[in-house]
Amino acid sequence: METERAAALLIATVEALSSRAPAIVAAAAVELGPFTLGLHFGDGSKAALSARHSRLWATEGLPGESAVEVYFDDRGMNLLFDLARKPVDEIWAGSLDVRGEREAVLASWRCFSLLAQRGAGLRAVQALWQDWRARQPQRWGRPSTPRDVVSEAGTWPPPRHSRWSALEYLDRRSPADLAVDYNGLPMTQPAYALWDGRNSSAWWAWPTVQDNDLLETMKAFKMRVVEEILDIIPKREPAAELYDLMRAYPVREGKGLRPTLTIATCVALGGRAEEAVRAAAAIELFHNGFLIHDDIADESESRRGKPTLHAEHGVALAVNAGDGLNLFAVDAVLSNLPTLGLARTLALIHEIMHMCRETVEGQAVELGWIHRNAVPRHDADYFSMSTQKTGWYTCITPCRMGAVCAGVGAPELLDRFNAAFRAIGVAFQIQDDVLNLIGEEALYGKESLGDLLEGKRTVMMIHLFRTADPRTREAMSRINKLPRVKKGREHAEEMLAAMKRFGSIDYAIEVADKLALEGVTRFESDLSFIPDNEAKAVLRQIAHYVTTRAL
Ligand code: IPE
Ligand code: IPE
Ligand code: MG
Repeated sequence: METERAAALLIATVEALSSRAPAIVAAAAVELGPFTLGLHFGDGSKAALSARHSRLWATEGLPGESAVEVYFDDRGMNLLFDLARKPVDEIWAGSLDVRGEREAVLASWRCFSLLAQRGAGLRAVQALWQDWRARQPQRWGRPSTPRDVVSEAGTWPPPRHSRWSALEYLDRRSPADLAVDYNGLPMTQPAYALWDGRNSSAWWAWPTVQDNDLLETMKAFKMRVVEEILDIIPKREPAAELYDLMRAYPVREGKGLRPTLTIATCVALGGRAEEAVRAAAAIELFHNGFLIHDDIADESESRRGKPTLHAEHGVALAVNAGDGLNLFAVDAVLSNLPTLGLARTLALIHEIMHMCRETVEGQAVELGWIHRNAVPRHDADYFSMSTQKTGWYTCITPCRMGAVCAGVGAPELLDRFNAAFRAIGVAFQIQDDVLNLIGEEALYGKESLGDLLEGKRTVMMIHLFRTADPRTREAMSRINKLPRVKKGREHAEEMLAAMKRFGSIDYAIEVADKLALEGVTRFESDLSFIPDNEAKAVLRQIAHYVTTRAL
């Protein structure tokens, strides 16, 4: 990412935070509310910032109208994302100018303060800002020694230190009789450091609650679980026809969402991470087994950036390797009996039985629609299918299993995960379907537009069939009816164009955002019995991550 210009730096910062600490972005989006900011930087570049649902949108250039216009010179930028100093620090007269209604100005300040306080400690963010500062050292005044600045006179008049904190500065510019409500945000706390996997002690050993770099957390858990999986899969013959194939998907790059949910839930409820590793490995084994079979059923070509297993080794060996993974998944749970004891092990078996039943039923419903060339009319049909196909095994059961590992046995407590993670799971699947149409293929790892070739009944397709004119619908139905071998890129492009024309993709993004919000809301209410801790913060990050992810 080109961060020569200040606007690009800001956009890269929002992107890094969105992918690595989406809960921070969601909180900042709440602070910003309905206001659009026009940001003018000292180097002449400009950017717009606005919030939609739980996301922040930063774009190059200015929109037509903004509620607040912010003018920074480079010393004004010094207020932001500097881990070494408080985010609210003294500013230079003339280096920050904010114009707008008071309510909007304070909203934008709260948004920036929150991003700076909770986001500056993210190593990915620090790297961007340190790099930018290092490349242009001449631009940085040192605010506590006014003499230095006199020598810079002329760069941004007047070169006078205001001796005001930025907050005070904003406040003095506003009507004095209005009470200031900062939503209880501690405005002058030092920025957090975010655990990024590179410090010697992980977040769960830290004395105070911290956010974390979610991508690093997921990577660490995924690595630990893959290690366990490689331990579980036998190192004997037949290797080339079976065990090597069973190892093929697990060692590829995957997000590690399910193991992270299992381990984080266990830790959030007072268990030890290691107690949940076998259960997390079991889910990941099932996941990989399901994927092999799913790729055959969907006639998919690539998985995690490489050819699908059946494309490489043929359907027969791939089916058998998938069976093997599902069997060893059960073994992973059983082998944990000496550590977890009989009650927890049986409870885990019960969880995976339920999960598997939901998954195969969901797959059957979806494949049935394609088989009969039926497109459901209502989103509710899709929600119910994807809850079964994806929601259970991707979100609900991983959490429930983590809770079981921590010793939670009461069904009413386990059920508290269901509503929140059902919504989060469906949002995750919709985002997956959206990425297949508009995502970056290299990141996403599956062939783009593959869903259209496969005839997958996504929210986009359901919306298209519901809203398109009869002629378009007829044309789309004809495409869906074609067998896969007769379907070409041009058919997929035609359907994509129709989806864009009828706003089906924007509609699906909106639906996913609403579901994610519902999930987060249920998370806060239904799971309030879990005390706030780092592991719970990981679960919260995931709730936001499902719709902000690019892979
Ligand atoms: C893919 O799951 C299958 C779906 C349920 C959409 P993931 O997107 O979690 O796959 P990996 O493990 O990261 O590759
Ligand atoms: C994933 O189904 C669900 C299972 C593997 C059980 P999808 O078909 O929607 O996922 P992708 O797009 O192949 O990853
Ligand atoms: Mg598939």
